[in-house]
Amino acid sequence: MIKYIGSKRLLVDQIVDLCQTVAPNGGSVIDLFSGTSRVGHALKTAGFGVHANDHNAYAHNIAMCYIQADAPKVIKQATAIIDDLNNIARSKCEDGFITKTYCIDSRFFHPDNGRRIDAMRTHIETLSLSPELRAVVLTSLIEAADRVDSTTGVQMAYLKAWAPRAHKHIELRVPNILPHPFDQNCTANQLEATDAASILSAEIAYLDPPYNQHSYLGNYHIWETLVRWDHPEVYGIACKRIDCRERKSPYNSKVKIADAFDKLIDSIDTDTLIVSFSDEGYLGRDQIEHALAKRGPVVVLDREHPRYVGCKIGIHNQQGKKVGKVGKLRNTEYFFIAGAGAQRVAQAQKELAAA
Ligand SMILES: C[S@@+](CC[C@H](N)C(=O)[O-])C[C@H]1O[C@@H](n2cnc3c(N)ncnc32)[C@H](O)[C@@H]1O
Repeated sequence: MIKYIGSKRLLVDQIVDLCQTVAPNGGSVIDLFSGTSRVGHALKTAGFGVHANDHNAYAHNIAMCYIQADAPKVIKQATAIIDDLNNIARSKCEDGFITKTYCIDSRFFHPDNGRRIDAMRTHIETLSLSPELRAVVLTSLIEAADRVDSTTGVQMAYLKAWAPRAHKHIELRVPNILPHPFDQNCTANQLEATDAASILSAEIAYLDPPYNQHSYLGNYHIWETLVRWDHPEVYGIACKRIDCRERKSPYNSKVKIADAFDKLIDSIDTDTLIVSFSDEGYLGRDQIEHALAKRGPVVVLDREHPRYVGCKIGIHNQQGKKVGKVGKLRNTEYFFIAGAGAQRVAQAQKELAAA
C-alpha cells in the first residue's frame, strides 16, 4: 500500500482487536476516513462487512479496490490487464501530461518512469472496465508509481537529487484484493464524512480524521490526478492541482474542526464509535471525550507511536538546505471508544491487566 501520513499501518491489529471485542459475533464497520483502506482491508480479512468512505477520489478508488471489489469476480481480468500494462511499460513510451508536469516542470518521477506512467494511464482510459476492475488496475498503477517516486512520502515537495528508487523501472503488481466476507456487504463511498454517516449504518463506526493543517489532497495531489485523469491546471513548485485551493476539509482548520466533529458524532447511526486521534491534533483529549459523551460511556486507550519520517529528516527549504531541527520522534495515539461497546472494552482491558 502507498506511503501515507497518518496511516494506521502500525495500529491496524489493535483496531481489529477492538472491533472484535466490541462485536464478538462479527458485523459491519463504517470507516469514515478510509485513506489507504488498510484498516478496512484488515477488518474485511477478519470477516467484517466494511463501508469505506473518503472524500478524495484517489482514496475512494483505493477503497473500491480493497473494499468494494469482490476478488473472485475481478482477479483474473485484473491480472491479465496488469500484465498488459507491464508490457506496455517495457516498450518505447512517449512524453505526456505526467512526464511534462511531474518529471520536467517538477521532479517527482524519473522521466523514463513518467513516460511509462503516461503510456499505461492512457491505455487504461481506452478500456471499458467495470468500476471495481478499473479501481484495481488504477490502484496497482498508483502503488507502482509510489514505489519509484522521489519524495519523502508527501507530494508537497520532491527531493533535490533523485531518490535511488526513482531509477528503478516501474513495475505493476496485482493488489491483494479480498473476497467479500460471507453474508456481508462491502462498499466504497466518496462523500463528506457527515453525509456518509447519515446514509450508512453498521454496528461500529471507526473515525480517523485529519488532525492538523496538512491537507490530504495537497499531499497526494498526483494520485488524485492519476485517478481523475483530468489534466488539471497546476500551480507552484510542486505543480499542485488548482482545485487544491478550493477543496478543503474542515478537519484541517483549527477554527472549524470542533464543530465538524460534533456534527459528525450526531450523524452517526451505530451503537459504538471508535475514534483515533493524536495528542498533537487540533482537538484535545477532553474536547473529544466531551463530544463523545452524548453517545454513552467513553473509554480512552493510548499508545506511543513513532512519528512520520519527515520529523527525523528535519525541516528543509526548497533548495534542500536544512533549516529546522529534528522534531519529537514519538507521539501518543489515542483510541476513544464510545457507546455500547465501551463497557466491553473496559472489561477486556481489566482482564488483560489482571492476566
Ligand atoms: C488520517 S487519514 C486516514 C488514514 C487511514 N485510516 C489509513 O490508515 O490509511 C484521514 C483521511 O480523511 C480524509 N478526509 C479528510 N477530510 C474529510 C472529510 N471531510 N470527509 C471525508 N474524508 C475526509 C482524507 O482524504 C484522508 O484520507
